[in-house]
Amino acid sequence: MYVGDRPAGGAKRRVSAVGKLVVPGVIDGHVHFRSPGHPHKEDWGSGSRAAASGGVTTVLDMPNTNPPTLTRVEWEQKRRLAAEQSRVNFGIWVGASAGRNAEINELMDSGDACGIKVFMGASTGPLLVDDATLVALFEQTRGLIGVHAEEEGVLVPFRQRYEGHTAPNHNAVRPPVAAVVAVTRLLELVEAHLRPVHICHLSTAAEVELVAASRSRSAGAGGRDLPVSTEVCPHHLFLAADQPSGFGRLMPDGTSSSAGNWIKVNPPVRDEADRLAMWAAVHRNRVDTVGSDHAPHTEDEKGLPYWRAPSGIPGVETTLPLLLTAVRQGRLTLERVVELCSAEPARVFGLKGKGAIREGADADLVVLDPQHLEAGFEPGRLHRGDLLTRVGWSPFEGMPMVAKPDAVYVLGRLVAAKGQIVDDDVRGTLTRPGE
Ligand code: DOR
Ligand code: ZN
Ligand code: ZN
Repeated sequence: MYVGDRPAGGAKRRVSAVGKLVVPGVIDGHVHFRSPGHPHKEDWGSGSRAAASGGVTTVLDMPNTNPPTLTRVEWEQKRRLAAEQSRVNFGIWVGASAGRNAEINELMDSGDACGIKVFMGASTGPLLVDDATLVALFEQTRGLIGVHAEEEGVLVPFRQRYEGHTAPNHNAVRPPVAAVVAVTRLLELVEAHLRPVHICHLSTAAEVELVAASRSRSAGAGGRDLPVSTEVCPHHLFLAADQPSGFGRLMPDGTSSSAGNWIKVNPPVRDEADRLAMWAAVHRNRVDTVGSDHAPHTEDEKGLPYWRAPSGIPGVETTLPLLLTAVRQGRLTLERVVELCSAEPARVFGLKGKGAIREGADADLVVLDPQHLEAGFEPGRLHRGDLLTRVGWSPFEGMPMVAKPDAVYVLGRLVAAKGQIVDDDVRGTLTRPGE
């Protein structure tokens, strides 16, 4: 294997990987690294170390930081933090907000922002757009729109209905219908404007069907491919709200609790039927990418009563090990993992130098031990001691999980090996669409 900085003139270094598997580094299009604003949860140093240890060599960071990333000034502030601290390559989403479309276009046309993030329902942070703002975005801005598709108008009455309950089921408070209504509206707009949209964290069978129906409607009406791509998150593939004992632990002490704040996340972890539908969607190529939606909150914060506990779970460093565990179990091929985690994110986000191993591509590489993927190999279980995220916990603790990669290279430099950071001086670079 040859690795080097972008090897226009050939590779600079030769590394032996005899007997190993080498795959492209994971591109995680969906992380919340919390900086600026909440470094007690995560910052670019801790988040990127966690990413690298788990085989993620590029992260795209979401705008719901403090301040939120809504303007050129805020985008530059975040870029500086990332450039100083990030051990992996990074891109930075700009958040959509009313009346800022000219500024958004400047960030998109320059190729600086990796996409425009829209919250159709309120989640962590102040970002929320109404329908008029959403329509104006489709009409006035350019580039990829990424969407958190839960409809605020549906969420509000459900929230009110459960207000008196101390520990309601989060999947009842934010039910599938909120996602269905949002995705329906979104697809209407995509069909009308043929504008590239990435739907984040599909979590229900119904959303998958809506996207498939819209794609075939569009193909029928003139054969144009609908410019829609979709993401699924590991927690919607590996956790189910109605089967807590079988899928991860809900409390740090290993017991399950009706409070269940450990898996409180938006959109919620759904029931088993939806979880299985997400696997079917993966197998039938109805989802394009896997993104972690790494959204760390501390154990103290998650230990608060339901209504005060924040939504979101960490996951950037467990995506690849979880999917490799599925490979070992025969539920997924390694090729499909590479598509979902590397090749398709590179296509969706237009990252030309990434997502594949070929001459001229960036040497963002992950070395795996093929023995770990064999059916007879007994994987370990995830322990919190394996985690590099600042919050130090995972909803997947205790689950069987293939070890982190043998070696992880960012732009040709070895940054992590067997789950540990081996060179803390490595820095990634800003990844821009088209480059
Ligand atoms: O559960 C969530 N947490 N959903 C989001 O949309 C945001 C995220 C966060 O930033 O904590
Ligand atoms: Zn979201
Ligand atoms: Zn998110």
